[in-house]
Amino acid sequence: MFALTGIGHLVTNDETLGDGQLGIVHDAAVVADSSGNIAWVGKQSELADHFDGKPHDVGGRAVIPGFVDSHTHLVFAGDRALEFESRMQGKPYAAGGIKTTMAATRAASDEVLAANVARLASEALASGTTTLEVKSGYGLSVRDEARSLVAAKTATSETTFLGAHVVPPDINADDYVALVQGEMLDACKGNAKWIDVFCDRGAFDVDQARAILQSGAAAGLGTRIHANQLQQGGGVQLGVELGVASCDHCTHLSQQDIDALSGASATTVATLLPTAELCTRSPFPDARKLIDAGVTVALASDCNPGSSYTSSMPLVVALAVINMGMTCDEALWSATAGGAQALRRSDVGNLRIGSRADMVILDAQSHIHLAYRPGIQQVRAVIRGGKTVVGAF
Ligand code: NIG
Ligand code: FE
Repeated sequence: MFALTGIGHLVTNDETLGDGQLGIVHDAAVVADSSGNIAWVGKQSELADHFDGKPHDVGGRAVIPGFVDSHTHLVFAGDRALEFESRMQGKPYAAGGIKTTMAATRAASDEVLAANVARLASEALASGTTTLEVKSGYGLSVRDEARSLVAAKTATSETTFLGAHVVPPDINADDYVALVQGEMLDACKGNAKWIDVFCDRGAFDVDQARAILQSGAAAGLGTRIHANQLQQGGGVQLGVELGVASCDHCTHLSQQDIDALSGASATTVATLLPTAELCTRSPFPDARKLIDAGVTVALASDCNPGSSYTSSMPLVVALAVINMGMTCDEALWSATAGGAQALRRSDVGNLRIGSRADMVILDAQSHIHLAYRPGIQQVRAVIRGGKTVVGAF
């Protein structure tokens, strides 16, 4: 059991605990129990009624829930720095680059894949990410997708089978879709919680995506989709129709897509990935329009070697505020509670009693500084499950 006190600005993401959407409490304290959950949260003046040890004083700093990064592709080998360089000289981004990483991933040992996942997961943790979703999708064979999920499982329980990333060069599309729905799904489902499909130009069409997601759901996996990243298409409306947890990217949306996401019975979150737009020089999605229509928006990093080789959620928050019309409050909510909703979790992304004691202590007075000081390392310490895993305070 331990307590933090001297919290100048505490974001709880619970409107019943404090001010506004973020449930902000000033001059706050938090108590964590020995199982790593929040035991109490409130004004520091009331701490003595709830904790009788010596609390850790954070000196007036801001404390926020750990980031929930609900969309990453950390299982891969090699990188694509040269592709990035030529993109910066004008070559457009295309789904085909995935095959370059596929070749490097297939050639890598299990140990190399697991070491890469561990390196990137610890990079994410250092910038405040305490819950991480990790996808397969660079193996694209039964053997290589199955071992990609074993590697993903070493870092997180939020693992996603993305055999349907692109059709690999050694098989035709119909045979590959059948393989993903059959033998590959069987080999992967034991280590996957979710199934995802890249439904876009150069990847899978709506009918293929529907068939694959339905097979995954029948096998007991939760569903999510990469949709409308490269162009408008039917991916978002398919996702809503199937009730997927999250439609991810949502860069090119029609009014019908927004209507579908905001429909009265819609349970699907729109997950926006602004570092993918940044690193592919694409237009940013219109977060303002989505939020104003009543859509639940999450923010995630999309960390992968092609379109977004960063795991920095503080950068994601800054871009969402500066380039996508989100307020500082909305962006932080979407990067924490919104990510949790995209993973259908209520035990993370907030600091209410009973939730995981996953917290970031900022070297700043408030969460506004995440966007106000882009690119500056402001994470002083990270606590996950009640333990200090990064930094000190
Ligand atoms: O989410 N869109 C599909 N997949 C990744 C990119 C993968 C790659 O280029 O390697 C994404 O951006
Ligand atoms: Fe992605």
